[in-house]
Amino acid sequence: MWRRAQVLKPKTLLEPSAGTGNLLLHVDPTVDVTAVEIDPALVSVLQSFDPKLAEIVVGDFLDDDVFPRGIRFDLGLSNPPYEDNRDVKFMLKLLDCCEVILVNVRSAVLHRTGCYSGLWTKLEAWGLGLRYLGICVGRPNYGGPTGPMDDYNVLEIGPIDKSFTGRPVVEWIRKP
Ligand SMILES: C[S@@+](CC[C@H](N)C(=O)[O-])C[C@H]1O[C@@H](n2cnc3c(N)ncnc32)[C@H](O)[C@@H]1O
Repeated sequence: MWRRAQVLKPKTLLEPSAGTGNLLLHVDPTVDVTAVEIDPALVSVLQSFDPKLAEIVVGDFLDDDVFPRGIRFDLGLSNPPYEDNRDVKFMLKLLDCCEVILVNVRSAVLHRTGCYSGLWTKLEAWGLGLRYLGICVGRPNYGGPTGPMDDYNVLEIGPIDKSFTGRPVVEWIRKP
């Protein structure tokens, strides 16, 4: 994900579901990173992250009292929780806070009727759209029989303006 993010040259980055900071491992140390995590046990790992994170917010990213909408970042980078369609809720709030977002989400986010009406139709009205689709090949299954399988994709969503060619880049991401 960072390989794709580098093209955007972000100066500020928001990771709203940071866990232990796996997505931040490859981020350029000059980027100002704000991380949000709800689980205090994982926050202690983030506190000792090297290079030091600019800000760590402990709490629910979706709660506007914990993390207000409208704060602007160049890039939102996230592997959000998916239960109860929280991935779509995370994406919508991230889009309120970031110029561009790069997220690792279930394929259902692309094609499920509820996701289509709850996300993609709104984006069109906002002048935003899908700019990159990375299809993860051979992502390990995890989470047990009812948990997520390997149907995950990396999506980049941002403004569809004059500088955009009008066709998303599609790439198959294989394990090295
Ligand atoms: C799928 S994990 C991703 C962790 C890490 N970014 C990674 O890629 O390894 C989702 C993380 O989001 C956190 N989380 C779940 N709900 C949250 C919320 N409402 N606000 C902030 N963090 C949340 C979980 O504790 C977990 O660490």
